[in-house]
Amino acid sequence: FNFFLPIPLISLITPICYNAIMAKKPLNDLIWLVNPKDLDLQKIWLEKEIKRIGEKQIQSLVKLAVKQSKLSYSPYSKYPVGVALLAKRGKIYLGNNSERAGYSETDHGEESAVTAGVVSGEVKKSGRRFIEALAVSHKLGSSPCGRCRQIIAEHCDNCVIINCDLKGEIKSITSLKNLFPDAFTPTSMGF
Ligand code: THU
Ligand code: ZN
Repeated sequence: FNFFLPIPLISLITPICYNAIMAKKPLNDLIWLVNPKDLDLQKIWLEKEIKRIGEKQIQSLVKLAVKQSKLSYSPYSKYPVGVALLAKRGKIYLGNNSERAGYSETDHGEESAVTAGVVSGEVKKSGRRFIEALAVSHKLGSSPCGRCRQIIAEHCDNCVIINCDLKGEIKSITSLKNLFPDAFTPTSMGF
């Protein structure tokens, strides 16, 4: 209908139309942020999980992650990453980064540990949500990258993530939910 309207009228009407289509509430009412109450719940959940998994098991996951980092194939970045994944049935799967000359084809450590679980039949035996915890070892001891968070989210609703350096010093213990809030997951798609 804009075709028949004079130009000044179009510029008056179109913003009004866009507002009507954009949202049914004032935009400020649509701001979404992590709920501080959920963060408190995550802390309680982590404390319970650390106790349930046990310090001995956590330390042995860290040792395995450090050992696995030594098998990393990372000639380009020279940034080895080693991962030990604890599955719900108690099995441990290992992974490390494996680089390619094309860079973007690189497998990340977390990704390869998750794939190791899948190819070993974890999904068949425990279902899609088979991850309980991951220990990740690399030079800076920081958390898994965004892509790896998405990959981990495919195989658990939440899990413990232990970040340590290449010597095995634990730098932080956190949860997937904390690192990846409001994630797009199989549940978002109705699976
Ligand atoms: N890397 C991982 O293996 N996991 C991550 O989540 C972060 C990055 C690897 C990819 C690459 O081989 C090297 O670390 C530097 O980015
Ligand atoms: Zn990654």
